[in-house]
Amino acid sequence: MIRTAIVGTGFMGRVHLEAVRRLEFVEAAAVVGRNAEAARRLGAGFSIPTIAADYSDVLRDPKIDAVHICTPNAQHFPMAKSALAAGKHVICEKPLATAVEEGEELVALARRQGVRNCVCHNLRYYPMVQQMRRMREDGDLGEILIVQGTYFQDWLLYDTDWNWRVDAKAGGPSRCMADIGSHWFDMAEHVTGLHVTSLCADLHTFHPTRKQPKHSVETFSNQLGGPEDYVETAVDTEDFGAVIFRMGEQARGSVTASQVSAGRKNRLSIEICGARASVAWNQERPDELWVGHRDSGNQILVKDPSLLKPAARSYADLPGGHSEGYDDTFKQVFRRFYASIRTPDEVPEYPQFADGLRQLNIVNAALESGRTRGWADVPTMVSES
Ligand SMILES: NC(=O)c1ccc[n+]([C@@H]2O[C@H](COP(=O)([O-])OP(=O)(O)OC[C@H]3O[C@@H](n4cnc5c(N)ncnc54)[C@H](O)[C@@H]3O)[C@@H](O)[C@H]2O)c1
Repeated sequence: MIRTAIVGTGFMGRVHLEAVRRLEFVEAAAVVGRNAEAARRLGAGFSIPTIAADYSDVLRDPKIDAVHICTPNAQHFPMAKSALAAGKHVICEKPLATAVEEGEELVALARRQGVRNCVCHNLRYYPMVQQMRRMREDGDLGEILIVQGTYFQDWLLYDTDWNWRVDAKAGGPSRCMADIGSHWFDMAEHVTGLHVTSLCADLHTFHPTRKQPKHSVETFSNQLGGPEDYVETAVDTEDFGAVIFRMGEQARGSVTASQVSAGRKNRLSIEICGARASVAWNQERPDELWVGHRDSGNQILVKDPSLLKPAARSYADLPGGHSEGYDDTFKQVFRRFYASIRTPDEVPEYPQFADGLRQLNIVNAALESGRTRGWADVPTMVSES
């Protein structure tokens, strides 16, 4: 058994813990939470042997092999750095850090330490997203011409909606682009095999101030009473971003990300137009893939492992007609991550810190472009997965 610790007991802490519990060869051995009562409740519910308030306790524990960092973004860099220094394998939630320099340091340190490292761009691992990727690899789409899409949510629509992500000190200088735009760009690059080379971004904050609760709130759990419960607080992160970009030599694209789009709960949509065919996929209908043709009827492919490209089949565990969703993507990432710990010579097949650094570079370019109102280049990097 590989023994692992989950750090953070909010939305992602629980999702990671449940996904780890679905793996045969991994033991969720510890839960770490700043809020002792929340950690005790989560850990007790899953009969986790160790519940710690102090992160350094698990780093000192030689029986812990790996950690999952599920804390607010600004904690990722110091927590990942100390875990790597302690020789632990690390799964870090996205974004990898809040600044490019931090990401570069983590990538270099992980290499020096020779440990496995993963940044949780789990959305790549929906079966139909893998189907798009394998169709592109097999040449079914032809040369990629256009990549476009949206990532829309509505949970920060009102000025009474608050979360640590709103505050740049906890979430980093970008909110919408770093929080959800990074998932979209990771998917676009993963499926097309191309890298964004330059972009032009328009970022906007519709609520220059928000009502910040006086008590802390966890993700998706905002409940505000009267004026005595909140402080009117200036907002320094964006609610919205529209980006046009260039990919590889030839491809062009655009994406719009928003956390203030009423009714759109978690709508990542992506459409890729190639010289031979197009594909379109939407996270709110994950088992369906639209395939567009010029000279014959368009198709809707429905997830069924027996009908997927052979290389995409291992991402679908259930037969056709049995949906696989958001939770399952974590299982797919973690399964591959932990398998790679047992087979040190194998090339990792999951998003690594280097991929997280790519996203930091894209977000950074979007911030720069938003400031200068012009195009910004995205530094070239070699992808590792
Ligand atoms: N991969 C995905 O699909 C996905 C989805 C949502 C969030 N995320 C990422 O997961 C991370 C956590 O987000 P969330 O939505 O779970 O937030 P959350 O607010 O629900 O939970 C954060 C948790 O971290 C704890 N925490 C804060 N500081 C801590 C510390 N120093 N030590 C231990 N615990 C500490 C808080 O008490 C809380 O329990 C973020 O980086 C976010 O970007 C990823």
